[in-house]
Amino acid sequence: MSRVVVTGRIPEAALEKLRAEHEVDAWAGPESISREELLRRVAGVDAVVSLLTERIDAELLDAAGPQLKVVANVAVGYDNINVPACTERGVVATNTPGVLIDATADIALSLILMATRRLGEGERLIRSGEAWKWGMFFLLGSSLKGKTLGVVGMGGIGQATARRAKAFGMEIVYQSRSEIDPAVASELGARRVDLDELLAVSDVVSLHCPYGPATHHLIGAEQLAAMKDSAYLVNTARGPIVDEAALAAALRDGIIAGAGLDVYEQEPTVHPGLLDLDNVVLLPHLGSATVETRTAMAMLAADNALAVLSGNQPPAPIG
Ligand code: GLV
Repeated sequence: MSRVVVTGRIPEAALEKLRAEHEVDAWAGPESISREELLRRVAGVDAVVSLLTERIDAELLDAAGPQLKVVANVAVGYDNINVPACTERGVVATNTPGVLIDATADIALSLILMATRRLGEGERLIRSGEAWKWGMFFLLGSSLKGKTLGVVGMGGIGQATARRAKAFGMEIVYQSRSEIDPAVASELGARRVDLDELLAVSDVVSLHCPYGPATHHLIGAEQLAAMKDSAYLVNTARGPIVDEAALAAALRDGIIAGAGLDVYEQEPTVHPGLLDLDNVVLLPHLGSATVETRTAMAMLAADNALAVLSGNQPPAPIG
């Protein structure tokens, strides 16, 4: 039997799976585990099943000790994990790709619709109790049909978002580190372009790339200025891909028409400049937040941890 620490609440089915084979210490508090408590609890464990709110760095790996074999993140993004520090210590790091593609693409499409059709504004208006009535020019938004979606990062979530947008009549361009499956590109009628062209031609820009040094502030003042003033920016990837202060200024000054955000630079804090603006839709990091998806993510993380603990290749190693 090995010792496993789970850093936050995860679906019961995954805990049961881990408990069937190992001794499991799962943080069950309503608040996130404190750093001190986490450093204390990881001492001597063989596996850490981590949530994206916990920083898994050299200090934590050393606090765990040399017997640590695996860090299994319950997330597809792993910018909370220092992967080279894991590798140096012979610790396998894993994530949960694949299982959250549809849920996240659904949220991207929701944000596209909410921003372009001004749904947050409409909802807030009704709840405010202010008088309103149907009017020819009341809360007009913009249509999607015939417009261009620019997908930055054409992995599984980017492709699934593009597929949904195509069903709404949008044309697709994308920027990607690598070529995608030609069959998918032709099914979507998607054209690969560089970021400059994508920003210039897109009516909606949707971000789906991983976060890391190469994508820090990928979208800043200069990139926002390169977009059409009628365009929208949607971010369901990671907050720091966008310079939030620059975005707030661009939205305020009409440099772009609107935005939809599910993630933030300093989560859970939201840049104060965004909070007063009507042309931005703000969601609290709900990309993968369905019962089915969170269960699938936790089960995959459990499978990753169990595989490494039994000396096998995990289903979803990072790198
Ligand atoms: C959620 O943000 C994830 O990376 O899984």
